[in-house]
Amino acid sequence: MKIFTNIKELQTDILQCKKESKSIGYVPTMGYLHEGHAYLMDQARKENDIVVVSIFVNPLQFGPNEDFESYPRDFERDQLVAQNHHVDYIFYPSVDEMYPNQPSVSVSVVDRTDVLCGKSRPGHFDGVATVLIKLFNIVMPDKAYFGMKDAQQVAVVDGVINDFNFPIELVPVETVREEDGLAKSSRNVNLLPEERVQAPAIYQGLKLAKEAIVNGETDPNKIVNIVESYINDQTKGTIDYIEIYSYPELREMDKLTGKIIIAVAVKFNNVRLIDNLIIQLKNE
Ligand code: PAF
Repeated sequence: MKIFTNIKELQTDILQCKKESKSIGYVPTMGYLHEGHAYLMDQARKENDIVVVSIFVNPLQFGPNEDFESYPRDFERDQLVAQNHHVDYIFYPSVDEMYPNQPSVSVSVVDRTDVLCGKSRPGHFDGVATVLIKLFNIVMPDKAYFGMKDAQQVAVVDGVINDFNFPIELVPVETVREEDGLAKSSRNVNLLPEERVQAPAIYQGLKLAKEAIVNGETDPNKIVNIVESYINDQTKGTIDYIEIYSYPELREMDKLTGKIIIAVAVKFNNVRLIDNLIIQLKNE
């Protein structure tokens, strides 16, 4: 496994791989790798000759009051995880390497961002899109792997790839969960012990919503109420949002139909957790 901190050196190597007709699978991450990331790496390993993982905590996607400083980091451990999952290249740039000077172009995502996390995190997806456009140009992957835990991010990346004509296949990968159903996240380590016990209620609430939908409920407000009462009963967290949209367009619906997302964000003391379920309804 090779570790690159320099953009030019990585690009030189990647271009050589491309000359040798090797396919490149790419897993962008902010590090503190967990089983969710490992699952993405395994998927990339199965489908490509070369697997590249980037580890970069991107300051542009954190708001002024968000957790950029406290975002967990452990590069030594990340290297072991990547090695165990047969990654070929780690790209581990510094902030100065990625953003050496004031930008001359700014990226603004204008669709699929005024709902869910985009609504409460202004500028977040502009930062995600900016770094991914740079990373896609640096890594030049054939396929890029993203976890569906952040389904809005997947919808935004889909827009970036299409709008900027990147010759990249977006591979959405299902959410990996703890045994009790809590979606794996680097941020879970910041939960207090009692919050960790309560946190699986987020997924349980989503499953109750799915059950109601499968049993014929088509009113989005009723579904939201089911999830809201459950999470409020079972946790001391504060609900940031519970929303239902068409997926991946993220448009509001009066009556549930087609492919939909139910997405939830809950704030605990030191961490805000998100989760979602995508459901394909048969009533189209
Ligand atoms: O999902 C993440 O970890 C980040 O948003 C990403 C895609 C690596 C961009 O910084």
